[in-house]
Amino acid sequence: MTGVAGRRIVVTGAGGGLGREYAKLLAREGAKVVINDLGGARDGSGGGSAMADTVVEEIRAEGGEAVANYDSVASAEGGKAIVQTCIDAFGGIDGVVSNAGILRDVSYMKMDADAWNAVEQVHLYGGYYITHAAWPHFREQKYGRILVATSTSGIYGNFGQANYGAAKLGLVGLINTLSIEGAKYNINANAMAPIAATRMTEDLMPEERLKALGPDHVAPVVGYLMSDESTDTGSVFIAGGGLVQRVAYYASEGHVFNDVPTMGDVADKWDKITDMSNAKEGKQVQTSQS
Ligand code: NAI
Repeated sequence: MTGVAGRRIVVTGAGGGLGREYAKLLAREGAKVVINDLGGARDGSGGGSAMADTVVEEIRAEGGEAVANYDSVASAEGGKAIVQTCIDAFGGIDGVVSNAGILRDVSYMKMDADAWNAVEQVHLYGGYYITHAAWPHFREQKYGRILVATSTSGIYGNFGQANYGAAKLGLVGLINTLSIEGAKYNINANAMAPIAATRMTEDLMPEERLKALGPDHVAPVVGYLMSDESTDTGSVFIAGGGLVQRVAYYASEGHVFNDVPTMGDVADKWDKITDMSNAKEGKQVQTSQS
């Protein structure tokens, strides 16, 4: 196969915003798409079938193939039911875009357990439930594409988003390991930090900036990463407003202490330890400089 043609792909949170754009592009490129959305408000409250149904209608009107699913990603049963919808409708599953998300922004001082848990449940646990339900199918057929939605709020931090940032970088930890465990099964797992004008960002960025940040700029990058041709795995990308970047951890050359150092020894070498001028991309754990 080429591109995503014929591939059976679940997009969670596809009833609006970025997920809708991803799903519509994937369908235009020939994928069969499950439009999952529980149809709630930005903070996760409420719900209904209208958002997912509308996107399914839009895709069918363009001649594409799509079915709706209204389960929440935030439970193991929900994750399984979403994957089952794909299998029932299309006879299998080839990819998951774990995109569903909510916000409960508040400064850390005021971040109670409800605000913390609600966000972890949808983003981090939601990412786990859906990818874990799809994983045995990917392994069995020796093919799978996973893309999780991360965020610069996790990569760099953002005021009022400790819950969200922790969940989003947790998802990077998830794909780091999925890329290792999936390597011999042709399962690629990557993370996309989008920057786009949606209801999630409508009051977080100035109107002028939002105008240049259509979600349509992000969708082709997601589509490419979900395609047969894409060989990247364990990578993190940022895309928005035309700019597409890969983000990676770099490790300094550091210093090796041959004997257990004193605190003073550590302090003496601190400049060398923190000097990033010869830093290299860190892909594996090292304990010496060999
Ligand atoms: P959005 O609010 O328009 O879309 C999120 C969708 O997820 C909604 O349609 C919502 O109904 C659905 N959803 C929420 N909880 C769900 C659940 N438990 N089960 C199923 N569906 C659920 O927001 P947007 O901007 O499109 O966000 C998409 C993803 O991209 C999110 O994961 C978000 O955190 C991430 N992101 C977005 C950025 C942006 O600039 N818009 C920046 C960084 C990350």
